[in-house]
Amino acid sequence: MDARERIKELVNTLNHHSYRYYVLDDPEISDAEYDELFNELKHLESLHPDMVLEYSPTQKVGYKVLTDFKKVKHKIPMLSLSNVFDYEELMDFDLRVKKLLGDNKNLEYVAEPKLDGLAVSISYKDGVFIKAATRGDGEVGEDITENVRTIRNVPLKMLGHDHPKEFEIRGEVVIPKQEFEKLNKVKMENGEKTFANPRNAAAGSVRQLDSKITATRPLYFYAHSFTSEELFKTHTDALEKAKRWGFMVPKNVITTDSIQKIKTFFEDLIRNRQALEVDIDGVVIKVNNTALQSELGSIARSPRWAVAWKPPAHTATTTVNKIAVQVGRTGVLTPVAELEPVEVGGVEIKRATLHNASELERKDIRVGDTVVIERAGDVIPAILRYVDDKRPKGSRKFEFPKKCPDCDIDVVREGVNFVCNNSKCPSRIKEALNHFISRDAMNIDGMGEKLIEQLVERNFIRSFPDIYRLNAATLMMLDRMGTKSANNIINAINESKNVSLDKFIYALGIDLIGSENAKELAKRFKNIDKLKNINEKDLEGIEGFGPNIISSLVSFFNSKDNIKRIDEIISLGVNIQETASAQTSTRLNGLSFVITGSFKEMSRDKISELIEHNGGKVSSSVSKRTSYVIVGTEPGSKLDKAKELNIKTLDLKEFLALISL
Ligand code: IVH
Repeated sequence: MDARERIKELVNTLNHHSYRYYVLDDPEISDAEYDELFNELKHLESLHPDMVLEYSPTQKVGYKVLTDFKKVKHKIPMLSLSNVFDYEELMDFDLRVKKLLGDNKNLEYVAEPKLDGLAVSISYKDGVFIKAATRGDGEVGEDITENVRTIRNVPLKMLGHDHPKEFEIRGEVVIPKQEFEKLNKVKMENGEKTFANPRNAAAGSVRQLDSKITATRPLYFYAHSFTSEELFKTHTDALEKAKRWGFMVPKNVITTDSIQKIKTFFEDLIRNRQALEVDIDGVVIKVNNTALQSELGSIARSPRWAVAWKPPAHTATTTVNKIAVQVGRTGVLTPVAELEPVEVGGVEIKRATLHNASELERKDIRVGDTVVIERAGDVIPAILRYVDDKRPKGSRKFEFPKKCPDCDIDVVREGVNFVCNNSKCPSRIKEALNHFISRDAMNIDGMGEKLIEQLVERNFIRSFPDIYRLNAATLMMLDRMGTKSANNIINAINESKNVSLDKFIYALGIDLIGSENAKELAKRFKNIDKLKNINEKDLEGIEGFGPNIISSLVSFFNSKDNIKRIDEIISLGVNIQETASAQTSTRLNGLSFVITGSFKEMSRDKISELIEHNGGKVSSSVSKRTSYVIVGTEPGSKLDKAKELNIKTLDLKEFLALISL
């Protein structure tokens, strides 16, 4: 096969697999196999730059840096939806539609989630991605072609052959909630400003002048409307075709002729929205039949055939009585607004977080202000803004205390926060202990915040080891503590003494080390002694461990006090279980393997696992240090390299024989 043909074949294969992965969530090959094909394509393209196809997956990395976005006029305006806020209003919509259409017996609706992202329109010519634009004012948007090209689930070439010659598809660009948390964590770690919510993060990422940055953001496109609905009999037909052509469409879609069923769908979806992958801000109800859609037409920029049902906003206004400052276990000062109690969505709210010093500066919330607060789902309520014309005359900007409100030491500014650096600060000690005993850490049942508070105030405990020095007699000196409760607590303390390494690491409350990072450390370092002697080099290259995490870990384990405390905890009977090693034999100790090609008997991941279980190492490229190359069908360039360097090759059978000796 010549290079041109192979390039085309690779591009089509890779596009197919990325569709399986991102759109269908049902991959057919492993990540490693994908990477290998991708690398082969990159290599071929570098040898033949004139043969690079415009829809090659290598074109998704972003390259152009723009100075501004060009304006584009939409061929067909991007409409918006009118809203309803309750069932009665939805029934009015239904009546209106029925009245306009006359007695149409086959009226059917589709209900879909209203995704909370950024509306985008994408154009294809002969199935190839050519252009993308934001909604803008509906008539004129901005050209964001280069950025949308980098979105992983946007096909650069539509799949199949039955697609129209010219095609424009519209939808929402979003960042899934989990990805948003990760993105913000990294930003925080780098001392950068975080995004307020996934919608802002998606919008900010799409409106980046440097598409290389956009390419790093976890953006997804969900298709939900089409400029040429007449191509399809129904909207559901359009969604189904779009999916076949390689687009992701909203999950949770129903088709029904019953407005009552839509009510149940709406209520269920809103009740469970917390559990959805992406933020939604309602449900969109559309007439399914496209001929009926055209018959209904649109009025004042909104279609008559669709409506958005929005849940009541859980907001309220109240006044700020006080701004308190709380000290966390790492010394970070968090401003908290104490509010005139107010009911929001059925819950009484008295306090709301103001996040950090820089958020508070930005929002400029002051004591005495009337503020709008919002309770989204079940999360802690947030203050959105103050009401300008209700600000009391002569009010002053909130000034952060110069000294720690608890221990009176000077606070220092670190990034977005003010910090109390006194490790003996009582607030910090209490918070650190609360964290230590919490469920995902040492899990000491029955030892809540109130007890910690008393124990610290009365000087019974000052640090983690002190917990393991407590006895029932001491506990019984506290208010309202009988023999039974005291014994229960001592039992819970004793039960916590058998702890897995990851929970123990998490319990230590090291800055920036949450339970996920703790698990990763436990997996890699296996026992606490290794961790105690950790240095920067040991931590380099661990996915998700940036420079701030590394320096936090190194400085924690470099502190003699911290090591002393860990040793004390152990000497008081805490047994930190070693992380079980995945290794079951040492047959391959000291040997390094490279795998190339594919194997029908076993996945490449499985082979890698077998190598590691037997003490060997798996590497992705062939070098002089490679001991063996395991070769499957259709091996890549690694086999040539192995021959060139005279490295021994094995087929799968020979490899299996090697480990079953
Ligand atoms: S259909 C004619 N379906 O909501 C308008 N819109 O005001 C067709 N949106 O910015 C829109 N999820 O981008 C439709 N499942 C969905 C949607 C959706 C979110 C956005 C849309 C527009 C706004 C409508």
